[in-house]
Amino acid sequence: MIQIYFYDFPNKLYDDVALKIKSKLKAKPDSVLGLAAGSTPIPLYQRLIQMYKNKEISFKDVHTFNLDEYYPLAKSDPHSFNVLIQNEFLKHINIKEKNRFSLDGSAKDPEHECERYEKLLKKYGGIDLQILGIGTNGHIAFNEPGSTVDSKTRLVNLAKETTNHNPKLPKQGLTMGIATILKAREILLIAVGKNKEAAVQNALNQEVSANNPTSYLQLHSKTEFYLSLK
Ligand code: GLP
Repeated sequence: MIQIYFYDFPNKLYDDVALKIKSKLKAKPDSVLGLAAGSTPIPLYQRLIQMYKNKEISFKDVHTFNLDEYYPLAKSDPHSFNVLIQNEFLKHINIKEKNRFSLDGSAKDPEHECERYEKLLKKYGGIDLQILGIGTNGHIAFNEPGSTVDSKTRLVNLAKETTNHNPKLPKQGLTMGIATILKAREILLIAVGKNKEAAVQNALNQEVSANNPTSYLQLHSKTEFYLSLK
């Protein structure tokens, strides 16, 4: 079931999602959070940093798992999702270094790297709360159209729409799969901007299909969409 919240302006949307995460961390201070890259979650991360600075929340016992990464790409590459999430979020809060997990875009053996990630997710009890963005072609993480419902963390070829955004970046990625994402106990998807409207409408109103990976969220029991699509 997808619960939908509409906003006229993104500010209130981000405030509400941040409050939602705050109450999650109050209820379960050792939550496992799934983190999205892209530009959409950045204002959310800024709010969470501020809440931490105000001593409203602590990440002392939190574990985080990044959703995806370009492949091949060095972990320290400034364009990597690893660096983006560190710079925009993790290095500003009190999360332990050893509790931050990401897919290694420089792994020699990508298959092995993806298996490692699935095992780690299992070891830490799976994701309590997954933050998601959405691509204009309906992708979630790097699960492009064609991704199957049983897909796990894996190496994928990126769609043209995706590589067109950043032509200089690699044409492949490592990504949590659809099945991996659907295992999260709770999912919050954020979409901001007119350019996301069609993808969101298709995800909500069309039948579940591999052509439209976000539609798989209809199969999840506890997903919320936070939308500001003007
Ligand atoms: C990227 C990422 C996704 C992200 C999406 C939207 O390619 N793989 O995890 O949610 O595209 O990005 P943005 O938030 O910048 O629109």
